[in-house]
Amino acid sequence: MSEQRTTAHGGMETSYGFRDVAAGEKQGLVNEVFHKVANRYDLMNDLMSAGMHRVWKDAMVTWLNPPKRPGWRSLDVAGGTGDIAFRIVEASDRNAHVTVLDINGSMLTVGRERAEKKGIAANLDFVEANAEELPFPDETFDAYTIAFGIRNVPRIEVALAEAARVLKPGGRFLCLEFSEVEMPLLDRFYDTWSFNAIPRIGQAVTGDGEPYRYLVESIRKFPNQRDFAAMITDAGLARATWRNYSGGIAALHSGWKI
Ligand SMILES: C[S@@+](CC[C@H](N)C(=O)[O-])C[C@H]1O[C@@H](n2cnc3c(N)ncnc32)[C@H](O)[C@@H]1O
Repeated sequence: MSEQRTTAHGGMETSYGFRDVAAGEKQGLVNEVFHKVANRYDLMNDLMSAGMHRVWKDAMVTWLNPPKRPGWRSLDVAGGTGDIAFRIVEASDRNAHVTVLDINGSMLTVGRERAEKKGIAANLDFVEANAEELPFPDETFDAYTIAFGIRNVPRIEVALAEAARVLKPGGRFLCLEFSEVEMPLLDRFYDTWSFNAIPRIGQAVTGDGEPYRYLVESIRKFPNQRDFAAMITDAGLARATWRNYSGGIAALHSGWKI
């Protein structure tokens, strides 16, 4: 594991960006960030990633390959404004049912409005809840997805155990997250972009650069590809593997409930 990164395993403390905070304090701070950014979230995603988040999300849903038949159910955790859920519904030819779960009502409100506009609201439901405590019985879903969400959850190992619990046997786990850049020149450019440009873009577009500083710092504190795969295995999911995108700026981890 690189020096800056942490496993986020156990302990009473967790990280909020580069600050150590009590585990109980982090969620409130994260919620404040997403309440502030909800209305500009989609625009900011495009600006911060130069549109690349769309490519990574498309790749995630291509790997998931949802079946084009009714009755298949998926859960998108930390689903925010619905990007992953909408892609799954469309990739299934509007057959799949996707539950979008997020702890933040402001993000879900934007997601609901977008779903109505797209005419796919009947394929979706929106649930305000915590990834660490999913309000569903065991073995409910055929797939569990989480995109750019898990690093915001204070107890990652608890969220992963919940993922394993709600998946049906044979169910698929996919997690898209910013990860460790594995290309020497790209990592320097990426650092400059992240720590300088992103908070400035946030300041210019939303009037507040602070939430974006947190988002960048939280990326650096998240476990690297190998360590996160080990956490997935520890949670009881099988065959943990990953694919890097854009030199490791993002990584897509996969696991199976067996
Ligand atoms: C960066 S956004 C990702 C949204 C969406 N998945 C996407 O890729 O565009 C992170 C989301 O995680 C949500 N979140 C943070 N902590 C959470 C938790 N403990 N349980 C559920 N959602 C959480 C936030 O409210 C926010 O909507």
